[in-house]
Amino acid sequence: MAIKVGQKIPSVTLHILGDKGPEPVTTDELFADKLVALFGLPGAFTPTCSAKHLPGYIEHAKKIRKAGADDIVCLSVNDAFVMGAWGKQQGAEGKVKMVADGSARFTRAVGLELDLTDIGLGVRCQRFSMIVEDGVVKDIAVEPKPTEAVKSSAEKMLEKMAKAYLDRGTAKTGI
Ligand code: BEZ
Repeated sequence: MAIKVGQKIPSVTLHILGDKGPEPVTTDELFADKLVALFGLPGAFTPTCSAKHLPGYIEHAKKIRKAGADDIVCLSVNDAFVMGAWGKQQGAEGKVKMVADGSARFTRAVGLELDLTDIGLGVRCQRFSMIVEDGVVKDIAVEPKPTEAVKSSAEKMLEKMAKAYLDRGTAKTGI
């Protein structure tokens, strides 16, 4: 069953591509004492993820931060090399953190697996967004179809962040 609003993000280790290769990062490091706009998707370089989902968050990154987010995190069941290359191709640097859940530990722990074995992709994660405040889920949206990025889009995230956290964002940025 998928994680629910009010539940804590489980403690697992993920990876981010650094200068010398994949570097471990724990969910505590990613989420503790922060307000994070998290989104997950079925795969780097796949059509909807590349044409809409990630580009939306890159385009709206500044506004999402201004509305209160300390960080924007993109997660996929891919290795850190792939996530790094995809982020570079898409211009995510300094805007969206590209986090690899290569062994699907996070995805399984939050109950968001998507079995794409029949099309040769193995177990991936569903397309989703979450607002995570100090490690606790404050909002979750899971797409009914993996090829759609509507409920979990950057535009929807921005709307929700602005509604719930704008005061925090304006206080933080002074704007
Ligand atoms: C897509 O992003 O459109 C996609 C993702 C996973 C499988 C097939 C398509």
